[in-house]
Amino acid sequence: MNAPQEKPLALVTGAARGIGRAIAERLCKDGFAVAILDREREAGLACAAELSTKGHSAFFEPIDLADHAAIRALVERLPTPAVVVNNAGIFENKPFFELEAEDFTRMMSVNVTALFILSQAAARRMGAGGRIINIASRVFLGARNHAHYVASKAAVVGLTRAMAMELLPQGIMVNAVAPGGVETEMVARQSEEARAALLALQPTGSLAQPADIANAVAFLASPQTQFIYGQVLMVDGGKSLGGGLGF
Ligand SMILES: NC(=O)c1ccc[n+]([C@@H]2O[C@H](COP(=O)([O-])OP(=O)(O)OC[C@H]3O[C@@H](n4cnc5c(N)ncnc54)[C@H](O)[C@@H]3O)[C@@H](O)[C@H]2O)c1
Repeated sequence: MNAPQEKPLALVTGAARGIGRAIAERLCKDGFAVAILDREREAGLACAAELSTKGHSAFFEPIDLADHAAIRALVERLPTPAVVVNNAGIFENKPFFELEAEDFTRMMSVNVTALFILSQAAARRMGAGGRIINIASRVFLGARNHAHYVASKAAVVGLTRAMAMELLPQGIMVNAVAPGGVETEMVARQSEEARAALLALQPTGSLAQPADIANAVAFLASPQTQFIYGQVLMVDGGKSLGGGLGF
């Protein structure tokens, strides 16, 4: 009799809460062991404990993604991942004329550079085959009052396409998921006015649930999904279709 096959490992950043947590749970259900990478120790440990209680294989690794050397060291220490989900991201509302260079540096460090560092370190270890899935945002198309966030997510899309081309010969499929508004703390933290404006712009009249995004990630992570490279899957309730006047 063959020894039982170990579960393939998925690294999910920002998985202590919100979209990342939903992704971690979904990938567990789909048969992956999941490493929850987050800077929030208590929430990360609680997430891992809850998933383990449900019979899944999940563990927490504390990491501040702004510490790029620590990312490399962590990837070296962990078993080789089959899947990397670059989900963690930071957001802030700030009008264009109030933005400082430091705002860009901070945003890019977590949303873009950390994603690059983790992907490069993981791809080096993956050898032949693997999946990298980046969480972008619908706002890469443009939005008001957070130019630095918009630019960071446009960079995630560009990086996804560039990595897809360079890693394809190595059998690594790189794609992105671009959510519209999703009901998480990131949105709950915004002013009532900003949340009402976000909701008013939704063609469906509602925000997505984190599970909707996890579903798209699970599709891209599945070994059954093949032949898709460098794509951006919009999960935005139709918002990116644009709004006509109806005549
Ligand atoms: N919520 C939305 O409406 C929405 C829409 C489009 C895209 N997104 C993107 O989806 C992703 C997840 O968003 P969310 O709504 O779940 O956010 P969230 O703020 O609820 O959760 C983000 C998670 O990332 C972790 N994180 C942030 N910075 C970190 C760092 N430096 N090091 C380690 N961990 C860090 C946080 O601790 C948290 O657990 C982000 O990339 C975000 O830009 C969200």
